[in-house]
Amino acid sequence: MQFNLTEEQLMIRQAARDFAQTELKPGVIERDEHQKFPAGQIKKLGELGFMGMMVSPQYGGSGMDAVSYSLVMEELSKIDASTSVVLSVNNSLVCYGLERFGNEEQKQKYLVPLATGQVIGAFCLSEPEAGSDATSQRTTATDMGDYYLLNGIKNWITSGSTASTFIVMAQTDASQKHRGINALIVEKDMDGFEVGAKENKMGIRGSDTHSLMFNDVRVPKANRIGDEGFGFKFAMAVLEGGRIGIASQALGIAAGAYELSLQYAKERKAFGKPLAELQAIQFKLADMATEIDAARLLCHKAAWLKDNGKPYAQAAAMAKLFASDTAMRVTTEAVQIHGGYGYVKEYHVERLMRDAKITQIYEGTSEIQRIVISREVLK
Ligand code: CAA
Ligand code: FAD
Repeated sequence: MQFNLTEEQLMIRQAARDFAQTELKPGVIERDEHQKFPAGQIKKLGELGFMGMMVSPQYGGSGMDAVSYSLVMEELSKIDASTSVVLSVNNSLVCYGLERFGNEEQKQKYLVPLATGQVIGAFCLSEPEAGSDATSQRTTATDMGDYYLLNGIKNWITSGSTASTFIVMAQTDASQKHRGINALIVEKDMDGFEVGAKENKMGIRGSDTHSLMFNDVRVPKANRIGDEGFGFKFAMAVLEGGRIGIASQALGIAAGAYELSLQYAKERKAFGKPLAELQAIQFKLADMATEIDAARLLCHKAAWLKDNGKPYAQAAAMAKLFASDTAMRVTTEAVQIHGGYGYVKEYHVERLMRDAKITQIYEGTSEIQRIVISREVLK
């Protein structure tokens, strides 16, 4: 068994760590407060090759492995989960989906600009009445011969107003239930496509989350990913890898809060000595460190399985379930260790606590991860 990272993985982690310190940390409180999208930061991440990290260089990507992707997600999320979620959706839902299941024409037209960071991608599965129950798609893609007529509403779409390329799941043949769903590539300029109001969120406030409306949008048949009716399997397959990204985001949020707490406990004095000398605080730090290590091992295991062509659905769900619960526990304790200072924005941990919550909700709630895991273990 090998626990060492390769030279290349260490370099990639360092690059992400440096980027987080120099490009994300300044302004992160302001972006959170004013719900400001990190446009300049995303552009620079594209230039660094991080927007299409795992895409083959043939399509403009960096050809890195999933372990490196997990490392980058962790490092960026220690500082700014609003930025890392944009990177996660672009990499593991949109780019991965197009590279694995798209045809050559779709890869040239859509994947290359996404992987090189020229444009941002969005993944549109959730609807007002279809979140966890994702097979209940109400959005319709009526077959009109050489195009589909797209009608309906998508909810909670990350990068809804900043993305240019949208992968939209929609029902074509309701009699076939989930086997009648298609995955269609929609461009932001297509007639009938409208972006709804921005959600005013508890956390990851720098990322833009919108509902999207489709009113008789004509989507060419050439924009369907895979065979007719493949859309639901496409979404499920892509979400397996997405869950490694969000698990790593949760890990990073926890690790960021832990690092701040460790430093604070050494500096802050109470009863004539640093907090770090109080056993109550030491035990909190010990629990945080242990849970973070366990979460990291689960994330890296899921990524390793993916890199080695082995099934990873269960491992990814376990990583997301455990890492997101870890993020909530650790960030809550981080605020506690900071006392009153933890409750105000300047010390960062209150933001990390607010950001942590979403990792138990999106890309499948914790309850959905338990469904995925229990089905696997009971197989
Ligand atoms: N790969 C390929 N196909 C899969 C699959 C996988 N991992 N998992 C399921 N399927 C297929 C099944 O084989 C089945 O197809 P067949 O009948 O043809 O065999 C089909 O999908 C339906 O599967 P189920 O019968 O298991 O469906 P279900 O209704 O019982 O529920 C579920 C499945 C796991 C609960 C699913 O609905 C689910 O994952 N829900 C959560 C949705 C979700 O994660 N949304 C995230 C949105 S993206 C997001 O949030 C972005 C962000 O974070 C920023
Ligand atoms: P519901 O499905 O209504 O669930 C409500 C509660 O019931 C949850 O606790 C849930 O776990 C529980 N529950 C539901 N069914 C079961 C069951 N069978 N067993 C046990 N418990 C159950 N979606 C996208 O498609 N693309 C995106 O880019 C995207 N980004 C998002 C960004 C943000 C900030 C947010 C908040 C959401 C985003 N989502 C996105 C949507 C997200 O994936 C859904 O919110 C999530 O899947 C849950 O769906 P829901 O909100 O409809 O909750």
